[in-house]
Amino acid sequence: MSMKQIVHSAALTCSIGLGLVTVQACADKSSKNSIQAESTTNEIENTARIQQDENQKIAEQTAKEAADKLAAEQALAEKAVKEVAVKEAAIQRAAAEKAAELAITKAAEKERAATNLADEKAAKLVAAKAKKDAEAKIVAESAAKKIATKKLAEEQAAETARLAAIEAAKNKAAITPPPAPILAAAQNTVGNPEAGALVFKKCRACHSNVEGKKKVGPSLFGVVGRTPGTLEGYKYSTAMKNFGAGGAVWDAQTLSEYLTSPRTMLPKVKMIFPGLKEQQDRLDIISYLDTLNVN
Ligand code: HEC
Repeated sequence: MSMKQIVHSAALTCSIGLGLVTVQACADKSSKNSIQAESTTNEIENTARIQQDENQKIAEQTAKEAADKLAAEQALAEKAVKEVAVKEAAIQRAAAEKAAELAITKAAEKERAATNLADEKAAKLVAAKAKKDAEAKIVAESAAKKIATKKLAEEQAAETARLAAIEAAKNKAAITPPPAPILAAAQNTVGNPEAGALVFKKCRACHSNVEGKKKVGPSLFGVVGRTPGTLEGYKYSTAMKNFGAGGAVWDAQTLSEYLTSPRTMLPKVKMIFPGLKEQQDRLDIISYLDTLNVN
């Protein structure tokens, strides 16, 4: 209801109750009412203005709050975007680092593989060389064996030939009167030169039966009848030389005693041989040695 309507309605109320009140009173009342109405109107208007102001303030406040909220949201959103960007950058960096690491690992693996290959090659080369060396050694050994076998065969052939020659000479001697034997005839009959040739195997390591050929010991060719320690080209011990210088001769007697135990008879001789304990062996080897003077 507007202000005029309020005033008008008050006057109307006054004129309706005309029977009771005077017009003046009514007019007064009306004016009073009017003033009252005006003051009410003013009050209402004030209240309205205050309300309006307040509303505006509230509206402004709300608008500001909304703006602030928006700004805050925007800031939050921006922050979120930034964070995402940072995160992405971090992820990308991590990926790049991982890729670099992988590349390094791969390179290292490649290098290791290359090294292994080189090592294997070297090992193969060494193995191949070792195999070659072993093969060469086998070849050399077999060649040496062949030579040794050949030498033995030659020596045996020479031996057989010589024994045959002795036999032939003996046969001849049976017809022609025999030359003076180097050893006493009685001793010769008990020794067997062929058995003695087998006993000579024990001497072979150190003695040759070939004229002038020395081994560890001197050649036993022509030893029967020789003065001990006098074969030229051989370096005897002083003991052996002294034995010869004392007037000894290698005959059946001295040989038998010497060969029984060389270092019992001549303590300081170089011949390291335990000796022939069997008398028959000594007789046989002596009659064999007696044959070593025919070429
Ligand atoms: C381990 C090597 C060895 C054996 C095995 C050996 N001797 Fe001798 N023999 C020697 C040496 C070394 C001498 C020189 C000794 C010295 O000068 O002292 C020697 C000297 C001799 C001599 C003196 C030769 C000389 O010219 O005066 C006669 C004899 C002899 N040995 C006979 C034999 C007989 C026979 C056998 C086998 C039953 C034999 N030896 C086995 C090493 C050996």
